[in-house]
Amino acid sequence: MKALLVAGARPNFMKIAPVYRAAQVYDSLECLIVHTGQHYDYAMSQTFFDDLELPEPDHFLEAGSGSHAEQTARVMVAFEEVCLAEKPDLVIVVGDVNSTLACSIVAKKLLIKVAHIEAGLRSFDLTMPEEINRMVTDAISDYFFVTEASGAANLLREGKPGAAVFLVGHVMIDNLLHQAEKLKSSDTSAFAVAALKRLHPDYFFMTMHRPANVDDPETLQGIVGCLNEIAKDYPIFFPVHPRTAKMLEQFAIELSDNIHCLGPLGFRESLYLWQDAIAVLTDSGGLQEETTALGVPCLTLRENTERPITIELGTNILVGNQPEGIMKAYEELRKSFPVGDAVVKRSVCRVPQWDGRAAERIWKVLLG
Ligand code: UD1
Repeated sequence: MKALLVAGARPNFMKIAPVYRAAQVYDSLECLIVHTGQHYDYAMSQTFFDDLELPEPDHFLEAGSGSHAEQTARVMVAFEEVCLAEKPDLVIVVGDVNSTLACSIVAKKLLIKVAHIEAGLRSFDLTMPEEINRMVTDAISDYFFVTEASGAANLLREGKPGAAVFLVGHVMIDNLLHQAEKLKSSDTSAFAVAALKRLHPDYFFMTMHRPANVDDPETLQGIVGCLNEIAKDYPIFFPVHPRTAKMLEQFAIELSDNIHCLGPLGFRESLYLWQDAIAVLTDSGGLQEETTALGVPCLTLRENTERPITIELGTNILVGNQPEGIMKAYEELRKSFPVGDAVVKRSVCRVPQWDGRAAERIWKVLLG
């Protein structure tokens, strides 16, 4: 079998790494990596390939940034050429970014089978571009690899045949467990953020990049106002996404000195920081799941989540993006530890099949 494994933006890289690794045990399988170039800066892309032990991609499409239509169209045109040249039996797409949508459409129209990893998740919020990407990709995929029971239920409700839906666990958690284990025996003293962590052992970790949170000045100001309040009690380590950096500058929003703004971090440095944080504040999909897997408290700056298992069995709490909700959740969280003497509680992951073996299960299904 020849399979093309597609990745475009940051969270995709974590998801393809274990799938690529698990493919290496099959002699009869040729698994090629296609990087669409949706993310292209060293800090947003190459550092992940280095950290995650991924080889150079077999194809790099240079799609770059732009409007959704421009970006999606550029990926489609370039990926069609790759499919025509490589004639794969299967295209594997992961997650919900524009590259996922673009490549699944191209493959399907060329009559190539499509496998969607992380299928079936639904926020039921069509203002999120990712929700549209998920729905369209799932509408045309042949194999649905699902991370949590809600995903399977959504797909069956939408009329997908049960025989094509496979609850296999989560490749992102495969990657996390692999990297967390490796980090334990790594020399982290060379990390640029090591000194910061030594200086501030009790801290919050923050990520934020969703258009709904950063593109509107009032919303962004409201969130930053909360961060500035929290920063009176604790330092916040904040690797700033390029979209967010642009907006903070454009709206001239000021952050407290106790918020330590960092550039985008590679996977290992990011994990090194968030796994020991008192809590994580985020609007990322992946971090909601990764914090659940390692039992780190997580306050999610969104009104909804397509990953409900992280709330039912995990450490995630939805706090919305309005100051009242954020501060109420922070005050609740603070009750569990006195200021200046943070007790970091960690629980064991209770999500079924988030055990580091999802990629193996996926190849067993695909190769029969
Ligand atoms: C994309 C995904 C989102 C994912 C996020 C992770 C879609 C619709 N969105 O959002 O689901 O959670 O990636 O980061 O696919 N930029 C750079 N360097 C880069 C890439 C982007 O500076 O390497 C800047 C560009 O100015 C760009 C902006 O960041 O305009 C946003 O990038 P874009 O790929 O459009 O979307 P993300 O917000 O990163």
